[in-house]
Amino acid sequence: MAHLTLGIESSCDETAAAVLEDGRRIRSSVITSQDALHAPFGGIVPELASRRHVEVVWPVVQEALTRAGATLADLDGIAATAGPGLVGSLLVGLSFGKALAFAIDIPLVGVNHLEGHLYAALLEHQDLTFPFTGLIASGGHTHLYLAQAPGQYRLLGRTRDDAAGEAFDKVAKLLGLGYPGGPLIEERARKGDPDTVRFPRPLPERGSYDFSFSGLKTAVVNYVRRARCEVRGAVGAGLALPKAGAASSAPAPTPSTLDPALVADICAGFQEAVVEALVRVTVAAAKASASSRIVLVGGVACNGRLRSRLTQRAADETIEVYYPSPSLCTDNAAMIAAAGYPRLLRGERAALSLNADADLVLGLM
Ligand code: KG4
Ligand code: ZN
Repeated sequence: MAHLTLGIESSCDETAAAVLEDGRRIRSSVITSQDALHAPFGGIVPELASRRHVEVVWPVVQEALTRAGATLADLDGIAATAGPGLVGSLLVGLSFGKALAFAIDIPLVGVNHLEGHLYAALLEHQDLTFPFTGLIASGGHTHLYLAQAPGQYRLLGRTRDDAAGEAFDKVAKLLGLGYPGGPLIEERARKGDPDTVRFPRPLPERGSYDFSFSGLKTAVVNYVRRARCEVRGAVGAGLALPKAGAASSAPAPTPSTLDPALVADICAGFQEAVVEALVRVTVAAAKASASSRIVLVGGVACNGRLRSRLTQRAADETIEVYYPSPSLCTDNAAMIAAAGYPRLLRGERAALSLNADADLVLGLM
């Protein structure tokens, strides 16, 4: 008899449920996005996010069961995200999972959302095995792990300030492109030239595998301010645009004042700087830990330029790169069920006192 795991994910702004067969085959995966709800604010509003989770969690679970052709009675275990994330959001999915597990008397395990992201790659690539170097780049995290074995993770590096996806979202907001910023910037970047506006590459000191994106974001802010000043008058005086990275106290620009071709070049230049930093640090960390496999996951892993640059650069070092398809890169519950399944199989069962933890840590630091 197949083992059916119900996965529940609500750590941020997606409410998701999935039914997984034997931990590897996706019978159903339902994801409701709150993008439209948060778009007017250019970022996630935590209070709105948790309220929406409350409204949709049960319908989403029901839909996942229907699509899987299963009923509650067919389930063998539940895996729900316990952290890290927005605490109000996490509490909805986790409390729902605990209540359901208690009501139908099946085991529940709490899953670390970051471990879930890593399992997204294992779910899609059945040939992928431990150990590997895993880059999780999303709206909330930019973490680099050495994944030694299931449940054994060593943190190699992380962002010291903004997450990579957060930088995409902030730059998109600045340029008036909308939310979430990653796909919108990637789309504009395709029409732009990455060398026209060259932003600084945020690289760590030797021996560190940390990331930093706030300086790059500030460089974009300053560049856009100066560009707007030129639009206002300096262009008429024949002045060239300043170099990226120069400071400015000019007011923030309104997007409409910028030429779409310049916006495309800014997007391409910014994307290139983020990609370059992610690729260089990840390949260096994989080499240092003698990994022959790199796993790229999280929402930013949808980025085509990042996928192709990382694959190219890793190939030079005979390192293979694995990334899931876009629907498994961004937040979903199939990855949570996949990460929880081996533990359910081992007989683990969380106590009903299990609490959500906004800062839940994965692995050793
Ligand atoms: O993993 P995810 O769905 O949620 C979090 O756990 O944060 O990631 C969402 C993030 C957003 O910041 C979004 O802008 C970014 O992933 N993202 C991208 C792309 N698609 C989504 N960033 C760059 N390029 C993309 N194509
Ligand atoms: Zn995530």
